[in-house]
Amino acid sequence: MSGFVWKPEPVQVPGLVHLHTGKVRDLYRNEAGDLVMVASDRISAYDWVLPTEIPGKGRVLTQLSLWWFDLLADLVPNHVLSTELPEGAPADWEGRTTICRSLRMVPVECVARGYLTGSGLTEYERDRTVCGLALPEGLTDGSELPAPIFTPATKAAVGDHDENVSYEEAARRVGADTAARLRQTTLAVYSRAREVARERGIILADTKFEFGFVETGGGGGSAGEGGNELVGDRDLLLADEVLTPDSSRFWPADQWEPGRAQPSFDKQFVRDWLTSPASGWDRHSEQPPPELPAEIVERTAAKYIEAYERLTGTAWS
Ligand SMILES: Nc1ncnc2c1ncn2[C@@H]1O[C@H](COP(=O)(O)OP(=O)(O)OP(=O)(O)O)[C@@H](O)[C@H]1O
Ligand SMILES: [Mg+2]
Repeated sequence: MSGFVWKPEPVQVPGLVHLHTGKVRDLYRNEAGDLVMVASDRISAYDWVLPTEIPGKGRVLTQLSLWWFDLLADLVPNHVLSTELPEGAPADWEGRTTICRSLRMVPVECVARGYLTGSGLTEYERDRTVCGLALPEGLTDGSELPAPIFTPATKAAVGDHDENVSYEEAARRVGADTAARLRQTTLAVYSRAREVARERGIILADTKFEFGFVETGGGGGSAGEGGNELVGDRDLLLADEVLTPDSSRFWPADQWEPGRAQPSFDKQFVRDWLTSPASGWDRHSEQPPPELPAEIVERTAAKYIEAYERLTGTAWS
């Protein structure tokens, strides 16, 4: 089982068309055809969107993404247009709303891994490969890889896990040129970000990027009539959110110890509590997870702020 414990009703704003309620973000289209991305305070764990929100999480992750987009702008252009609140939007959207160029998204999730864990570890234990890439013997959960690798995945339907694919399969889906650019950009951005995080005592174990093409011709934000070809070869933009705890594995460097699951920078309190007897919940059951206690919520909110402050080197306000 997985999914929403309960799915929130979208907020209606005149002039905005609601497109999608994601696990964490709500998407709208404005009258100019641009995408309005609103990060909520929802949090997911063990494949569930929990019934309890983490106050401030949406703002912290939005500001962190924006900080990274800026820092990476010389490596790759991005989809951010503005952070101005749409007219008539609720005041509490402030700080967690991003107006983005509406792109034709590349149908491959671009993952970079510098460390072995998660689905990479599962494949490694079976085949000594990750996404078909051969790796040396002797690696374990949390091991640093000899060099960062590009491990593309295809997006699954809500509630399912993304499926890892080989580079060759990704290239079949998006074309050889695009695949090469995705790999090159993904690894360049990962390397830069990993250095930044490392200086601040945080290991960026892996991260997922999404890219999209500026649609040429047609105008407006809706999909053109041109089918699914990826056009505008020169206009590949970094989209979605970047290098947040929701799209990345951040590990506290001082607790890194290969051979076991690493503590998660942001969700450890939540996971520990959910799997403790105190929660009364069995994550392998069909039951949805319970509400989080106030203390777990507070400590988790503080962790997101700590991640922001450590990474950016600026105080959260
Ligand atoms: N600039 C953009 N133009 C068009 N679509 C975009 C852009 N940036 C991000 N997206 C898409 O917007 C969606 C963001 O939604 P969100 O991440 O909240 O939910 P999701 O990815 O559908 O599901 P999940 O809850 O599993 O993450 C994704 O489908 C993403 O590919
Ligand atoms: Mg997503």
